[in-house]
Formats: sequence, C-alpha cells, structure tokens
Amino acid sequence: MGSTEDSLPRLVAAAARSGDLFRIHAPGRRSDTWILNNPADIKRVLVTNHRNYTKGVGLDRVRILLGDGIMTSEGDLWRRQRRMIQPFFHRRVIESFAEIIEVQVERRMALWESAAQTGSPISITSEMSEMTLEIILRAIFSVDLEWLTERMGQNPFALVTEHAARDLQFAYRFRGLVRLVGDLVNRRRSEGLERHDFLGMLMAARDKETGAPMPDRELLDEAMTLIVAGHETSASALNWTWYLLATHPEADAQVAQELAQLDPAARLSYADAESLRHTQAAILEAMRLYPPGWILSRRAIADDVLSGHRITAGTDLLLSPYLIQRHAAHWDSPESYRPERFLLDDPRDRWIYIPFAAGPRHCVGENFAMYEMTVHVARVAARWRMEYLDDGPLDIEAAINLRTRGDLRMRLHPR
Ligand code: HEM
Repeated sequence: MGSTEDSLPRLVAAAARSGDLFRIHAPGRRSDTWILNNPADIKRVLVTNHRNYTKGVGLDRVRILLGDGIMTSEGDLWRRQRRMIQPFFHRRVIESFAEIIEVQVERRMALWESAAQTGSPISITSEMSEMTLEIILRAIFSVDLEWLTERMGQNPFALVTEHAARDLQFAYRFRGLVRLVGDLVNRRRSEGLERHDFLGMLMAARDKETGAPMPDRELLDEAMTLIVAGHETSASALNWTWYLLATHPEADAQVAQELAQLDPAARLSYADAESLRHTQAAILEAMRLYPPGWILSRRAIADDVLSGHRITAGTDLLLSPYLIQRHAAHWDSPESYRPERFLLDDPRDRWIYIPFAAGPRHCVGENFAMYEMTVHVARVAARWRMEYLDDGPLDIEAAINLRTRGDLRMRLHPR
C-alpha cells in the first residue's frame, strides 16, 4: 500500500469490500499484508501484545531521514530512549514552552494583520507549516536558532517547509544538517552554555538505570526526529482544523463563543488550554476525520492470533486511524464534522480514536501538540473568522502524512 497516489482510496475501498480484518497482496512484497480495522485487534497489536510487534513497512526510508532515534528504534534501545525522552513531555515542562508558543502565534497573527485589513487571502497551509516549524525549532534550539541561522546565512531548516515532497532527496539534504546541530552541541559544551530547550534536555538526560548520557550520535538523531515528528503532523492537523471550522459555521460559532471570555493579554496555561473544551473538540474532531498519521505499520516478531486468524512471524500489518475513525459501526454520521461528540461523556471504545496511536509507543509529543494547537486556534479564532476561498472537492494527499495536496486559501474576517 505505501504512499502512492491512490493508496487511501484503495484502502477505503478494500475495507468496504472486505471487512475488519483482511489481507491484501502488495506487489513487490513476498507475503500478504494484513489490514486490521477493529478495536480488539488494534488494542492487541498496539497495547496488550505490543512486544510482539516492531515497526514495519516503510521504516527503512524513515531511518534514512531520522537515523536511529526514538521513532525508528526497537527493543531495548527504544525503551531506553523513551525512558529518557518521556519526561520532556510532562505537562509542567510543556508549560515552560508557553512563551515560545505564544510568541510565535502572535508573530504569525501580526503577519496576517494587513491581509486581514485588505481582505487579501492567506495560504493557511503554508502559514501552518511555517508556524509549527518555528515553534518546534524554538523549542529545540531556543536562542541558538539565531546562531545556526547566522552560520548558514539563512534558516538551515527552511527546506522542511520549502521541500514538500518527503522523498530521498529531502532525506539526504535534511541529514546533511546533522553536522551543523553537532557543532551546536559542541559549542554549548565548550562554552558551558545551559539552555532550557529540548536540545539542552537531550544533553542533560541520563539513563535512570545506568546514569549514562545519550551517545552523541543518538542525541543528534533525537533532535532531528523531534523536528520532523513535531512539525508536519501539527501543521496538517491545524490546516484541517481551519478548513473544517471555515466550512462549518455552527462549530465555528461554538468555538468563538467559548473564546469570547478569553483575556488576550493573559498567557494560557496548560490547564487553561484544557478547559477550552469546544476549541479542543474542534481540533480532536478534525484529527478524527483527517488524522495526519493516517496509517501505522507493524511487523509480527512471533506468531499471533488476531480475530481468530493466525498471523505468522514476519507478517506485515497496517492499522489505519483514518479507517477506524470513520468506521460506521463505531461512529454516528462518521463522515460529518461534529466536534460536539468530543464533549459527551460517552463510553466510546478507546481504540476507535487513535490519531496519536496508542499503547507504549503512542506519540510522545501528544500533549505538546495539543497545547500548541489549542493556544494557536484559541488566539486566532478569538480574533478572526476564516472564510475558505477555494471551490471544488478537496484534493487529499496521503503520503507519510495526510495533507491537502494544494494550499488552502482563507480570508480573515474580524469577529
Ligand atoms: C497533531 C500532531 C501529532 C500527531 C497527529 C502525531 C501522531 C503520531 C503518531 C500516530 C505516532 C505513532 C507512529 C507509529 O507508532 O507508527 C507518533 C509518534 C511520535 N511522535 Fe507524534 N504526532 C504529533 C505531534 C508530535 C509532536 C509535536 C512531537 C514532538 C515534539 C511528536 C513526537 C513524536 C515521537 C518522538 C514519536 C515516536 C514515539 C515512539 O516511537 O516512542 N509528535 N506521533
């Protein structure tokens, strides 16, 4: 299946034909790939029997981009990395990034001011890509982003937004930046610079069991991983959120009403962001319909049984947040954008909503992403309503992430 042009429509059609656990034959692969689309099997693979599964198809390419960081590692190495990195995403630590997030959100809004006044369109897609890149780069490098930019004569990471295709050429160019980040690590060490940012945390991290620091190679891989993992997913989720709010006036009005009470001058704490329930529901529902990570791949280490079927060692599996989150057996009006479903105290099955995956390998950046996205949507939606300017059906690109193929244009109207 992979990330070819029509992989998403083919997957949707196959699931409609074949039910909740089925296999497909992917040309070029020795064995069949199983698609699982039911909560029990998803739970087994991601949670209860997760030790029996490694990441599967497509990992080699991701490794060219990210090396052996937490996203691509397995077994004991992954467990050690996760143990060391997980504390960076404690809500208290995330909140310490509030200023970085608010400053970038405000900067972006200031850039939109004249477009809002003249009614000129903005490309929300590229704006979200640039803003989330700024935020994650500031969270990783803080003030040293200037040092990196001076050394290169430009923001060295600009290629992340400029080069949309995540192909091999991108992977090699991006990897070329590892040495630059290595220079920064050396500079911080030789000058004794202590910074409160993810790079500083990676440098200071110690393995709880051995007390050992992260080897340099790994530290650089983790920094590169955070850039890629933290940028495009959040950019996509926000792009979809704005598209859906702009095309669903009732949902947009609910968010605006909630935000009318917000003090624009007071910083939003993590708890404040969580209390914006309509705003968060608008984002969660956007990620239900358009999960940026639309497909997860796994490979069985030993034999297993899923829904009564024997899965032999080495079998590739695909789980799709996109499919299960639109599954008619589990969701009312699954194709409709209805943020209010996230306001109900319903006993929804935990395993039918997995935009951040689930289990021990779920997205380590989930809380960071939710905080960042909520602060952004809250600030912008309190000030402006977005009008979607493009006609015709949406062109969806299901590559590594689920994105819009072209840029979406919006006009900003004052509330
Ligand atoms: C809306 C935003 C985001 C979405 C939808 C998302 C989704 C995901 C998903 C589905 C996975 C699991 C992939 C798999 O198991 O195959 C994942 C893993 C991961 N994400 Fe996110 N992510 C988001 C934002 C972030 C942010 C902001 C960061 C970092 C700052 C981040 C860092 C990571 C890392 C490091 C992993 C690998 C975790 C591990 O394997 O232990 N993500 N993400």
